Amino acid sequence: MFVLNTWYVAAWSAEVTRKPVRRVVCKQPIALFRTQDGAAVALADRCAHRAFPLSEGRTVGDSVECGYHGFTSGPDGMCTKVPAQTTIPERARVRKYPLVEKDGWIWVWTGDAELADPADVPDTHWMVDPEWATVTHSVHFKCRTDLIHDNLLDLTHESFLHKTTVGDDYIYEHGITVEVEGNVVSVDRLMPSVEAPPLYAETMDARGLFDRFHCTEFFVPNLHVLHSGISGEGRPREEGYLIKVLNGITPIDEHNSWYYYAFSRNFGVDNAQATQELLVGLATVLDEDAAALEAQEIGMQDRPAGEFDVLIAQDGGVAKARRILAALLKKEQNASPANRTVEPAAPRSA
Ligand code: FES
Ligand SMILES: [Fe+2]
Repeated sequence: MFVLNTWYVAAWSAEVTRKPVRRVVCKQPIALFRTQDGAAVALADRCAHRAFPLSEGRTVGDSVECGYHGFTSGPDGMCTKVPAQTTIPERARVRKYPLVEKDGWIWVWTGDAELADPADVPDTHWMVDPEWATVTHSVHFKCRTDLIHDNLLDLTHESFLHKTTVGDDYIYEHGITVEVEGNVVSVDRLMPSVEAPPLYAETMDARGLFDRFHCTEFFVPNLHVLHSGISGEGRPREEGYLIKVLNGITPIDEHNSWYYYAFSRNFGVDNAQATQELLVGLATVLDEDAAALEAQEIGMQDRPAGEFDVLIAQDGGVAKARRILAALLKKEQNASPANRTVEPAAPRSA
C-alpha cells in the first residue's frame, strides 16, 4: 500500500526527452516525454487500444504514437488519431498525471488529480543554486521504501555501514532531538568537538576538531532533506561547511524503490577534483546502503508473523514518521469510495 495523494520524483529532467521513457511509480507504469516546446508530460504507459506501452512508441508533434497500431495520444491523454478509421472512440484516452518540473527533478502526482497542488513540492533549490556544487546519483534499491525512510532517520548506521567514508563511533554516542511539524519529521544530532568525516575532511581541508551536525527532515512520504556539515567549535551552523543531501524516495512496488540522490555543498564549489572524489565516494556510500537494505528486505520477508522491530531511543524519528505514514494511508483508504462502508438502504414504506 502506498500513499498516492502526493508528489513523487519520477525522473531527472535530463532523462525526459522527446523519446518517451517508462517509469513505474507505486505500481503505476508512466510514460514521460516532452512536447515540441519542451514541456514534460506524464501519461499512463498503457495504450487505450490494447495496452501496449506508449513508451515503446514515438512522439509525433505534441502527441505520442503507439508503436503497435498507431493510436495517437495528445499531451492531455485524449486520443487524437486512429489510423484504421476516421472516428475516434470516446473511451480512447489514457490517464494524464499532474507533473511538476523543478530544480532538475520531474515530480508526478499519483493520486486524485484534483488534489494536486504544485506548491506542495518541497524546496530543493540547492541542486541548481550556483553557490552550491552538486553531485547526483539514482539507484534502484531492491527494498520497500519503508526501509529507506528508517535508514535515513537513524543515521547511527553510518558508524557501522559507512566506516570508511562518513562513519565514526562518535555518531551513535550522541543522542537526537525529534520534532514534528505537520507531515515533516526532523531528527537532529549535534556532535560537538569531533573530527570531520574521512570523505569530506580533504575537500573541506578540515583538520582538528569541529562541531558536526546532522538534521534529517523527512517530508513524509517522498523526500528526505539532510542538513549536515561541520562548523567551528561552539560556532553557529550557518558559518560552517554545509551539505544538503536530497533524497527523493519513490516506491516502484512493495519490494523495490527508486532512490534519487543529490549532494550539494557550499565549500570547494569550483574544485572539480573534489567533485569527482565525492561522486565516487558517495556512490560507495549508496552502494553500501543498497546492499544492506536488500539484505534487510530479505530478512523482513523471512521474518515470521508476530516478530516485530525492537525500537530504541535512536529510533525516535522512525516511530514518529511511521505514525504519520499510517495516518496518511488510513486517510486515503477512508476517502476511497471502494473502501467506504455502504450504509444499508432504509426499508421502503409499503
Ligand atoms: S495497442 Fe496501441 S494502437 Fe493498438
Ligand atoms: Fe547510509
